[in-house]
Amino acid sequence: MAASIATVRTVKELRAEVAKWRKAGETVALVPTMGALHAGHLSLIGIAKNHATRIVASIFVNPAQFGPKEDFKRYPRDEAGDLAKLAQAGVDLVYIPHTAEMYPRGFATKVTLPSLTEDLCGAARPNHFEGVATVVTKLLLQCAPDVAVFGEKDYQQLLVIKQVVHDLNIPVQIVPGSIVREEDGLALSSRNGYLSAAERKTAPILHQVLSEAAAALANGEGCDAVTSAGRFKLEGKGFRVDYVAVRDPETLAPLFGPIKGPARVMGAAYLGTTRLIDNVPTAPKNR
Ligand code: PAF
Repeated sequence: MAASIATVRTVKELRAEVAKWRKAGETVALVPTMGALHAGHLSLIGIAKNHATRIVASIFVNPAQFGPKEDFKRYPRDEAGDLAKLAQAGVDLVYIPHTAEMYPRGFATKVTLPSLTEDLCGAARPNHFEGVATVVTKLLLQCAPDVAVFGEKDYQQLLVIKQVVHDLNIPVQIVPGSIVREEDGLALSSRNGYLSAAERKTAPILHQVLSEAAAALANGEGCDAVTSAGRFKLEGKGFRVDYVAVRDPETLAPLFGPIKGPARVMGAAYLGTTRLIDNVPTAPKNR
């Protein structure tokens, strides 16, 4: 028989459960998700378990972070399947708010941080990070966890969330989770299911190209040369490239010339209508 799992749909119920645990001296980790769970999400839950005695996962497909022409309507939803996976993974409580619980009539506040969100994914997806920052702020204030875990696949999102938590003095530790990949290197994503069979074969090339760029940077090649070469290779394989960029891993500031310290190679590209993102860390080789 499938394991059952406790679910709550309101802030009041969520806070009541967390309060019980607090009274018993337990610690709490939150893993926010939009559902359609895969092994990447489950790895975040594994990380959360190393940091707290109780684990809350949230499932909320946040309309505020989708543009008007984006995939909010067709974003995969599988509540029963997700709950079975979360039960199996040992999550204690799943918070599944309705849209009206998250954004009641008259909701008017937005969390914006222009400096970190105007380029890279923010350039192609105006208001996306405002939607993410607003909903994550709400989730953190609703649950009040000790720790919250976010994947590095959405690297810009991770830095946005760290900045919000720092700026707004939200008392939570943000813990990153490494990217989980298919055997051929494709980063796991709930959107990979949109790919046709042919696109799915091509998709791992994004990771290959970013990894080659990371190796070239480590060997002393300049940022401009490796990003141009990466873009060229991707376009040659049929991707419509949004960006290939080399950035400071803490601030996302653009880097130029040969790298002198750690860097993140980041890429976003379309295959058909599916937008794929990925990133790879690098650092200069000691010579
Ligand atoms: O990464 C995601 O799944 C979402 O952006 C998040 C952090 C759950 C906010 O809706």
